[in-house]
Amino acid sequence: MEYVNQSPVRDAVNRVSTDLFSLAYRYGVKKAIFAMAPDDAHARTLAFCHAAGKNTPLMWLLRGMLDYTDPVLETNVMGVRFSNPFGISAGLDKNCDIAPVADAAGYGFETVGSVTGRPCVGNPRPWFHRLPQYESMMVHVGLANAGSEAVIRDVEKAYTHARQMKISVSIARTNDDETIDDEEGIEDYRLSLERAAGKSDMVEINISCPNTMVGERFVAPENLDRLLTALDSVDRPQPVLVKMPQDKPWPKFRELLDVVCDHDVQGVTIANLRKDRSGMDIPVDWKGNLSGAPCREPSNDLLEQTYRDYGSRLVLAGVGGVSTAEQAYWKIRHGASLVMLVSALMYRGPQVMTEIRRGVAALLRRDGFRHVEDAVGVDVD
Ligand SMILES: Cc1cc2nc3c(=O)[nH]c(=O)nc-3n(C[C@H](O)[C@H](O)[C@H](O)COP(=O)(O)O)c2cc1C
Repeated sequence: MEYVNQSPVRDAVNRVSTDLFSLAYRYGVKKAIFAMAPDDAHARTLAFCHAAGKNTPLMWLLRGMLDYTDPVLETNVMGVRFSNPFGISAGLDKNCDIAPVADAAGYGFETVGSVTGRPCVGNPRPWFHRLPQYESMMVHVGLANAGSEAVIRDVEKAYTHARQMKISVSIARTNDDETIDDEEGIEDYRLSLERAAGKSDMVEINISCPNTMVGERFVAPENLDRLLTALDSVDRPQPVLVKMPQDKPWPKFRELLDVVCDHDVQGVTIANLRKDRSGMDIPVDWKGNLSGAPCREPSNDLLEQTYRDYGSRLVLAGVGGVSTAEQAYWKIRHGASLVMLVSALMYRGPQVMTEIRRGVAALLRRDGFRHVEDAVGVDVD
């Protein structure tokens, strides 16, 4: 199949339709979505995408409009072949509802979940507050999901049927009063990993959800070591990443990376939501932690330092505050083999991934790279 960038007609159609999508989102769809309470908007958008994904002609049309393909973006990471390294980070699609839409729109991968051993209702509502002045969301979901048994059944279908998109599944510990003890927590992760074995392209172990009843028990090095020792015993063919916290100073972060390196883990995702609200004008009674632009600088700092010291041992996935091609390219040049985002989809629209693919391809060519993986970490000395 010919790449879009090599066909003048398809390239022109893709360029114009991406611009139209962007305008329609900014001046129409976004206004309608932002007129709803954020929790309703989130649920309705997912329901719409779920229904749309079953409409084959619509998916065909979406593909013609948004699927920018380019050989310079193809990459092999941890033995998985990606059409491009840009994907959805965990949290948007907790129950695997939107895979056909993301696949048709040309997303390189999506991370489903986080899922937990048992179904989980999450924290009391509201789960979200918008902070448009910061291009950020205040998130307080608390790992609501339909449980790993049901969700991974759908993940396997998406994994088997995907046209080009790769599927990762994020696994966390059930957030309820039945999983208080650390041993129960470890067993909960282990059960979900067993269910996921062989049924997705990658797995992400989420140790850093900041919105749970028992807190982040596995960001203590000795607890993380116990968790990863238990997970090492699960036979799985796909690569595993650990989703890292964002609020650890470098010496503490390093201690966690040292533990990760002792186990059967191929990479780390940097990083989860931001807790620090200092200098920001946020109502004190809003519960939760920050996504989007406020995550960019702290996650970029951790990414760069991790690549410098661990780049030869661990694959890095960069997430936090990406909404433009330049920001995605920065993460690549500072060590990210994969780049993920969530908040930009809400603030900029679904075509933001196409803008990023096209933009990064142009930046790679400008700088003389033949393949995106050649640019990984080039700015880290
Ligand atoms: C609505 C929402 C829900 C999230 N839920 C999860 C989750 O379940 N598991 C997880 O590892 N990260 C979760 N995150 C964090 C994101 O995966 C990501 O690390 C963070 O939002 C920074 O990326 P962004 O700036 O592109 O939004 C969530 C983020 C958002 C916005």
